[in-house]
Amino acid sequence: MSVIARAVSAQTLQARVAEMAASIGADFEGKEPVVLGVLQGAVPFLADLSRHLSPQVDIDFLSLTRFGSEGRVAISVDTATPISGRHVLIVEDIVDTGLTLAYLLSLLETRGPASLTTATLLDKRSQRIVDVPLRYRGFEVGNEFLLGYGLDWDGRYRNLPDLWAVIDLAAFRQEPAAATRDLFGDGGDKVSA
Ligand code: IMP
Repeated sequence: MSVIARAVSAQTLQARVAEMAASIGADFEGKEPVVLGVLQGAVPFLADLSRHLSPQVDIDFLSLTRFGSEGRVAISVDTATPISGRHVLIVEDIVDTGLTLAYLLSLLETRGPASLTTATLLDKRSQRIVDVPLRYRGFEVGNEFLLGYGLDWDGRYRNLPDLWAVIDLAAFRQEPAAATRDLFGDGGDKVSA
């Protein structure tokens, strides 16, 4: 019995990311936006998305610290790019309760951007506690725990090209390495020169 199952293949992810980039590119034409990725989860999505965008974008990142049970956040590593007067596109891997994005929006709003827009690859809509405006959304997903393409379990699995759903959370918690066996099998060369 598998512990995890492929939720979205790398090919489908890439196709959807290209579609999202086409909409973003059209909407921001001539605006030279700041594309702001939320570390670490948004890295693969932002990297792929940005390769479809015009060169007239600034790319930067910030990192958040979460504290408290109400999802309060503070910026732990700030962007080097001033956003006052700029059109800002926040790029997230996943919006779950919406608490993180709601706090981030209110923090960035105080810096006087010309506009603040959001893009998320994944939307766990059924889990939402606070309503957040999502202008661009890749996929609506259920409430399974997801791994890969930026999403982690204890810092691991972010580098998987596909997105995986944990289907047996209890078994996975007990032995996360079991998931690795499902992903890579147990034989054969993984790399060839
Ligand atoms: P929020 O609940 O919308 O504030 O989301 C908080 C954060 O939870 C996200 O930015 C992700 O880092 C993390 N998260 C939510 N669901 C998942 C998941 O299925 N896999 C991995 N991380 C998740």
